[in-house]
Amino acid sequence: MDTKVLSSGIHYPNLPESYIRPESERPRLSEVSECEDVPIIDLGSQDRTQIVQQIGEACRFYGFFQVINHGVGLEAMKEMEEVAHGFFKLPVEEKLKLYSEDPSKTMRLSTSFNVNKEKVHNWRDYLRLHCYPLDKYVPEWPSNPPSFKESVTKYCKVVRELGLRIQEYISESLGLEKDYIKNVLGEQGQHMAVNYYPPCPEPELTYGLPGHTDPNALTILLQDLHVSGLQVLKDGKWVAISPHPQAFVINIGDQLQALSNGLYKSVWHRAVVNVDKPRLSVASFLCPNDEALISPAKPLTQDGSNVIYRGYTYAEYYKKFWSRDLEQEHCLELFKNK
Ligand code: OGA
Ligand code: NI
Repeated sequence: MDTKVLSSGIHYPNLPESYIRPESERPRLSEVSECEDVPIIDLGSQDRTQIVQQIGEACRFYGFFQVINHGVGLEAMKEMEEVAHGFFKLPVEEKLKLYSEDPSKTMRLSTSFNVNKEKVHNWRDYLRLHCYPLDKYVPEWPSNPPSFKESVTKYCKVVRELGLRIQEYISESLGLEKDYIKNVLGEQGQHMAVNYYPPCPEPELTYGLPGHTDPNALTILLQDLHVSGLQVLKDGKWVAISPHPQAFVINIGDQLQALSNGLYKSVWHRAVVNVDKPRLSVASFLCPNDEALISPAKPLTQDGSNVIYRGYTYAEYYKKFWSRDLEQEHCLELFKNK
């Protein structure tokens, strides 16, 4: 391929060889149906008990849900989308200045997932940013489009508040103190992946992102309003999650699966691509502090339940995660008690 990124203006009449999945790993798009019963939780409700109960149920049975009336203004969501589109529309030479394949970089444009570890590539470009604390990281963010820093800063602040609030509901839904998760995870990091999936000549043969779970604690996803592509694994079947205007898709990450002793599942999800339209998504990840010691919450195992996972620091987990490909055995499996 001529350039490192897909969003280069080059038109691909065929899918390049290095993106083609073997027959048995293909998405089989015609077999995927719409998820009819995605939990949609109204965070504007006055009934806190009900919110907590709905979130608990969604976490237990789905591992993901959507939230509406979440306090993030429509304006901030639109601005985030616009500035993200603006970024990927920049001339390729401009974007390539930010290109890196090193996952330890705190700001980089990259492509696929983990180019140096994977066998088959994925039809995605992504901009990855660290977002907390803002005054530490904003200076290294792209300064083009000119409004990038301001719009993304605004967005990051409100999304963080939303995420922390959802963690309180999740704590309570597990029967833990409201601040339990917050206290265990310490001063949480916040990362962002701005995902750009260009139109793809042969969507049946590849992925934007193959099935994976998120390695962090909680993910807040802003989906493209017009183009679908997110699918989650529900009862052994892939189902499509259509964009809901004004909603965020929330999913539990590996760390909350471990903390809940497996009661809440870090959901398997993937992004598929399509022939005609580019798709954009913005994933915000709340991540435990590097030093945070993650283990199944004591109150959940006092009854003598098996303690499924051993204690580990988040730094240890994160390093392991990025040393691998998404296709291998699930990372959390490596942290089980023997
Ligand atoms: C991710 C992710 C899904 C999407 O960035 O981890 O799962 O719809 N994105 O882009
Ligand atoms: Ni993900």
